[in-house]
Amino acid sequence: MVKDDLETNLHIIERDPGDNAAEVLQRVNADALVLLLAPEELNDALQEWLPSLLAAEVSAMLERGQFAAGLGQAEVLPTLGLLPCRSLVLSGLGRAAASTDAWRDAGVYAARAALARGLERLAAPLPRAAAAGAAAVPLGERVHALAEGLLLGGYRMPSYAAAAQPPVPALREVALIADQATLAALGGGSAASALAQPLEAARALAVATQYARDLTNLPGNVLVPDTLAQEAARVASQYGMACTVLDEAAIVEHGMGGLHAVGKGSINPPRMITIRYQGTDSWDNVVGLVGKGITFDTGGISLKKPDGMEEMISDMGGAAVLLGLLHAVGRLKPKINLVIVIPTAENMPSGAAFKPGDVIKMMSGHTVEVLNTDAEGRIVLGDGITYAKQLGATRIVDVATLTGAVLVSFADVATGAVANDEALQQEILHAAKQAGEKVWPFPNYPEYHEMLKSDVADIKNAASRDRWAGSITGGLFIGFFAGDTPWLHLDTGGTAWLWNDRGTEPKGGTGTMVRTLAHWLCSSQM
Ligand code: BES
Ligand code: MN
Ligand code: ZN
Repeated sequence: MVKDDLETNLHIIERDPGDNAAEVLQRVNADALVLLLAPEELNDALQEWLPSLLAAEVSAMLERGQFAAGLGQAEVLPTLGLLPCRSLVLSGLGRAAASTDAWRDAGVYAARAALARGLERLAAPLPRAAAAGAAAVPLGERVHALAEGLLLGGYRMPSYAAAAQPPVPALREVALIADQATLAALGGGSAASALAQPLEAARALAVATQYARDLTNLPGNVLVPDTLAQEAARVASQYGMACTVLDEAAIVEHGMGGLHAVGKGSINPPRMITIRYQGTDSWDNVVGLVGKGITFDTGGISLKKPDGMEEMISDMGGAAVLLGLLHAVGRLKPKINLVIVIPTAENMPSGAAFKPGDVIKMMSGHTVEVLNTDAEGRIVLGDGITYAKQLGATRIVDVATLTGAVLVSFADVATGAVANDEALQQEILHAAKQAGEKVWPFPNYPEYHEMLKSDVADIKNAASRDRWAGSITGGLFIGFFAGDTPWLHLDTGGTAWLWNDRGTEPKGGTGTMVRTLAHWLCSSQM
């Protein structure tokens, strides 16, 4: 249903001492040489890699102000036979002491610029050991970032068009050029051994992100709860992980009244998906990850307005992040224990649908007063959290396209976090920084809990003034079911899906939070 691997062959070529660019490039079948350049080092890099005629042309561009090596600037030049590849791709790093993020982002921009010109095979020198600012960022991190960026820049949204389309270029090959100084700085040994860890991490994170994007982009008629469950089972089995799926009858039997209520308005019945990954000898210290899997959200009886409703194919973005993450965990094999829980349903209005005013009984035994059937995500996640605890989770993170209100707070720029545990929050914020993804915490003052008090049930699913602090109250509803278990919620309502390309992120599903969670769980493997 969704691709589980990259179209790109990522490999290393060693540059022997004294080889010039032409000699190195002779040994690969590249369409383009890709140079990531910092303004301060431009001249050195041009001298090192380009024949003098090409170097002079780039210098002239610099003088004309056409290319200043700023981050986000990418230029493609013909080599006119002066190098043994058709084109030269220049991508700016912004400054010499470029951050890991800059290396990743410049890689994305380079690959995109190349693909836009039909250049499918790229050769790029690795960051140099001696570069200024090298002390600030470990070299292995920059190697990982560059490889990850180039691979992520190769992402293409699949099309369903039946009519013949012009062939879309694919990123078929990335050859990373390693010189002796770089290899020595990475700990010596052969190129293969020195580079294995950062390159495998880059590949795992790129596959995981690409997979989450593709899954998020599947139309709502193609992906329904049962197909999501089959897909989860397929991916889990690839890595030898156990996956179980509860059907509607089993959901009722388990007392999962929240998931059942949300799902019962649709002819495509709900499912509860669980996947286990055991990376240590004993099943303890279990991390629970819970992902919102609403395959389409019409709002139900509290129907959404039609404008832009098609975006709600991405309301399973949280589930997509967790299934994407399986690729990272399955490849990097961290020594941790994980239980993934995905409650999945289609939120539809019908004669069988749940209604405002209903009181439903959750798996935890608590009752919920339904004020708005469009606040469905928190209801299915409440049961998801209870189930994760029952399966042994001792710390829980949920990922959900929970609220439109997060767009009011952060636009489509940052993912909002709500937590009941400061230490867990610090860990996730640190991982997000490492991954280059933007997460910002909301406060969880007692006044916000008050706003969810119901007169007839233990809690209500929408605060009385439901637009006030909507992302916080939405998150805290989920936290109610976490109870004393350390818990953090990631609201990707603004970030899981973009109306247009923005920065390094593509239009449609972004897969955001795959890399944050991968850094959190797999840091010792990167
Ligand atoms: N899936 C939506 C949230 C959403 C909306 C994500 C727009 C991305 C873009 C969620 O189920 C929802 O409808 N939330 C309501 C909650 C409200 C009724 C309390 C919302 O945000 O309007
Ligand atoms: Mn909704
Ligand atoms: Zn929703």
